Amino acid sequence: MSEEIQFNTAASRKEIYKELLPQAEALLKPEPDEIARMANLTAILHEIPGFFWVGFYFVRGEELVLGPFQGPVACSRFSILKGVCGAAVREKKMQIVPDVEAFPGHIACSSLSKSEIVIPLFDADRKVWAVLDIDSTKLEDFSVMDGEYLEFFLDLLKRD
Ligand code: SME
Repeated sequence: MSEEIQFNTAASRKEIYKELLPQAEALLKPEPDEIARMANLTAILHEIPGFFWVGFYFVRGEELVLGPFQGPVACSRFSILKGVCGAAVREKKMQIVPDVEAFPGHIACSSLSKSEIVIPLFDADRKVWAVLDIDSTKLEDFSVMDGEYLEFFLDLLKRD
């Protein structure tokens, strides 16, 4: 397939997800290397208007360590006791933060980030091994709908 991602930037967020999903599947499914799949997934999602930073953090003991990402430089590592990402790991639950400044302990990697979604990735033993973190330049930019579609994208990282 062509390695260019195409979609209607004027469409709704939901329509954009629907347009991007099959393209992501075609690009990611044949790739056996997990890091390569994660890297291209961040590149695809970063194309979505407003998605200022898209990346993964890996759980490494008591810390989260930066993985593949698209966007400005970010914190390389921080404690799982901190931040929205840490909350997703500890609570084993997606975090939707409408206003990052109102989230106690939020780690500000950039002042441009206004709202955030963090989705945990689970291994076969239900342990969180990584999180997907997306920051938006807009307040209240994420809903449950985003979470549902982003989970479909994350399913493309799995191997049978
Ligand atoms: N804001 C995140 C830290 C990572 S950056 O946004 C890239 C947090 O509070 O966990």
